[in-house]
Amino acid sequence: EKQGFKHFMLKEIYEQPGVVRACLEAYLDEGWSADQQKSPVTMAIAPALLADLQHIQIVACGTSWHASLVGKHLLEQLAGIPTSVHYASEFRYAPPPLMPNTLTIGVTQSGETADTLAALEMEQKRRSESPEAADQPRLLGITNRPESSLGRLLPHIIDTHAGIEIGVAATKTFSAQLMAFYVLALELAYQRQTLTPARLEEIVTAMRQLPAQMELVLESQERYIEELAHEFSETQDFIFIGRGINYPIALEGALKLKEISYIHAEGYPAGEMKHGPIALLDEKVPVVAIAAPGSVYEKVLSNAQEAKARDAQLIGVAPMNDADAEETFDSLLPVPVVDELLSPVLTVIPLQLLAYHIAARRGLDVDQPRNLAKSVTVE
Ligand code: F6R
Repeated sequence: EKQGFKHFMLKEIYEQPGVVRACLEAYLDEGWSADQQKSPVTMAIAPALLADLQHIQIVACGTSWHASLVGKHLLEQLAGIPTSVHYASEFRYAPPPLMPNTLTIGVTQSGETADTLAALEMEQKRRSESPEAADQPRLLGITNRPESSLGRLLPHIIDTHAGIEIGVAATKTFSAQLMAFYVLALELAYQRQTLTPARLEEIVTAMRQLPAQMELVLESQERYIEELAHEFSETQDFIFIGRGINYPIALEGALKLKEISYIHAEGYPAGEMKHGPIALLDEKVPVVAIAAPGSVYEKVLSNAQEAKARDAQLIGVAPMNDADAEETFDSLLPVPVVDELLSPVLTVIPLQLLAYHIAARRGLDVDQPRNLAKSVTVE
């Protein structure tokens, strides 16, 4: 039931702090500290899947593909493992050459997406038949439905603990998929000793603060975002920009808006704007920039300023109490400052709320958008 929320999507957006809390409880050792010289991760992953990995390939569709792009960033930057992310529908018909010591991860919240299942089945088959693959196929599923077709196909599954999601637009299952990738990357980083114990502890400590920070974002912003949505309910095009680990969040913000409000939206890596898309900008095309403090913060701000110089209205998902952000953006959707690597868990929330309120303002059927189904069981 909707428990007083107007739509399931809004209820599910609000469930995210609880989902992240449940994931932390399920996956991490509560009393862990770095001096114990053991892994902080309690999530069970078969050691044979992770030993001597040289490469990880991930297949997924839609929002799960966006979570996988965040996952790639984490697996490469925290654990140092080269990782490629593929649309399942593309991977099926042009799989990359086989390499040994490869882990294939399939990400699907429903566990029923036809292309993702077919890509994994194909990979399992070609690996078990090929001498070049050199080892037993290693496949891991990340899903919110371990009882699904994916659960039956693969012997190894990470259960994302989000509870059933009813709104067609994926929200809480996305946050839960992110948590699965954080924990997988931390476990690999621990095993491969790619992080100092102090850095590992810093990340784990910061992860535990996320649920309260997510609650703060929800409580402090919903009213403002609802008002802001009124301004944009007739807008025809939106551009979302981000860099680094927040580039996939720009894609996700654009996808959420497209699918429930039917407004055309594109997500770009902010540095690519000047290579073409900037020609689209004028006062009628608002730009949403995700500017989280860290390695690319100043770069994103300056990309946003380039958009402003073309008269674009600028909306910033940016730190609280930051003079540069306040000066740059026409509208600010503030998020608490966190470790850059954890920022997607917070930055996605204002974008989900923005898409939701624009669609609700337009009087659309947010939970059941036209032409879309919760599980895409056909190719
Ligand atoms: C976006 C959305 C779709 C799904 C995609 C994959 O809000 O709902 O893009 O993310 O169809 O679905 P799963 O994760 O079930 O494989």
